[in-house]
Amino acid sequence: MQVSKEQFQTEQKQRTEQIVEILNTFLPKQITLQKTIAEAMEYSLMAGGKRLRPMLLLESYRRFGGNNEKEVYPFMAAIEMIHTYSLVHDDLPAMDNDEYRRGRKTTHVVYGEDMGILAGDALLNYAYEVALQGVVQMSEPLRGAKALQILAQKAGVYGMVGGQVVDVELTGKPLQEEQLEFIYRLKTGALLEASLMAGAVLAGAGEKELQQVERIGSLVGMAFQIQDDILDITSTTKELGKPVGSDAKNEKTTYATLHGLEQAHEAVKSYSEEALQLLEQLPGENTFLDALIISLIDRKK
Ligand code: IPE
Ligand code: IPE
Ligand code: MG
Ligand code: MG
Ligand code: MG
Repeated sequence: MQVSKEQFQTEQKQRTEQIVEILNTFLPKQITLQKTIAEAMEYSLMAGGKRLRPMLLLESYRRFGGNNEKEVYPFMAAIEMIHTYSLVHDDLPAMDNDEYRRGRKTTHVVYGEDMGILAGDALLNYAYEVALQGVVQMSEPLRGAKALQILAQKAGVYGMVGGQVVDVELTGKPLQEEQLEFIYRLKTGALLEASLMAGAVLAGAGEKELQQVERIGSLVGMAFQIQDDILDITSTTKELGKPVGSDAKNEKTTYATLHGLEQAHEAVKSYSEEALQLLEQLPGENTFLDALIISLIDRKK
């Protein structure tokens, strides 16, 4: 079954709004003297992101037949918090040194570098507080524990942080294809893998399905990061909500600088098509999830 572009966009908007509401319910509440950190967390988290990771998590849960959606909300909030922390730190002067994010000044510009670092730390830690609270209240806590294990692993040394380390370390140097792929698979792919895998495992997917889903997430991640590189060259700060030309400023070798824009676009298409083919081979169906992955090929922000 196919959904029309208009129908997809309407549904995507509804889902994004639902995620924003969910995030709101999980914000820290009992705040006294440490209120600056709560403000900085809210400032970065509640700015307009695409909410792709929590959306993928929920759609993957649905794809694998999950039907107790409220139990998934803490994990959706957690992954968006981890992702947001990665952005707050990625923008710091010591890293990409960028001043705009999600359509507003970056957290460290508004709250200072000290609070930028702490807001990132707080979001990361709070993600686990929220997710663990979800686990202890679940009907099947073992599934929750597995989802949490995936989240933790994909966010860390073997995942996003590991990718950022190599990205930063090799900045300004020419990159080999394998190094570039390693960076993209970890810094961006890992959290997209985690989103799909956590959703699947919460719905009760088995080990074999999980491996397939991991591969799908990795392919979507490659496509997503290459498109990010393309938009860094072709878009505008207004449309993107973050500075264009950040990669050039930092002398980063990207897929787009290495292969040119045209070939980069072809790669986005081909990684995405491979992901869709693998998804089709799995039991079940979720036409919205398919449409979402397709929409990312030509995303403008
Ligand atoms: C930006 O992620 C960082 C990358 C991994 C390329 P998104 O493009 O998903 O950022 P938001 O969440 O919509 O702000
Ligand atoms: C960062 O990649 C991926 C993260 C883990 C944050 P980029 O540095 O290209 O992300 P943007 O373009 O700043 O969003
Ligand atoms: Mg970066
Ligand atoms: Mg950056
Ligand atoms: Mg970028």
